[in-house]
Amino acid sequence: MRVVNRVSQSLLLVCLGAVLLSACEKKEAPPPAIEDKKQPTNSAAQTKEAAIAAMPGRTLHNTNCVSCHDAKIYTRPEHKMKDLMQLNAQVTRCNANLAQPLGEADLKQLSDYINQAYYQFAN
Ligand code: HEC
Repeated sequence: MRVVNRVSQSLLLVCLGAVLLSACEKKEAPPPAIEDKKQPTNSAAQTKEAAIAAMPGRTLHNTNCVSCHDAKIYTRPEHKMKDLMQLNAQVTRCNANLAQPLGEADLKQLSDYINQAYYQFAN
């Protein structure tokens, strides 16, 4: 009987040791190195998005330019604008249809906003 007791005692110790070891292993949480590297990119994209959302041209656009079409027309697959000059000309053309056309400074803000938010033509 004693021999059996010793054997089960040492088995118990081995098991206890294993449990303690595995508990220790779980505590070592390695820092998520890859996620850390991703963060600057995400916040840079967020900053750019916020900057575009804060552009004065956005308010001008949403107030004056969505009665005939919304912004989807800029990203439609067959969209017609191919560079900044065409965009400026189209903004001027569309502006002429407004009951109260906007001035030059506002048109510049509008083109800037539409370009940065949608077309992204090189300046
Ligand atoms: C009276 C109606 C009307 C208003 C108001 C209007 N647009 Fe347009 N816009 C159009 C139409 C119609 C087209 C499509 C023209 C085409 O396909 O040739 C267009 C096309 C455009 C395009 C070109 C889309 C492409 O295919 O790449 C831009 C840019 C644009 N509008 C900007 C503006 C801006 C900025 C304003 C506000 C100043 C504005 N529009 C207000 C009627 C309007």
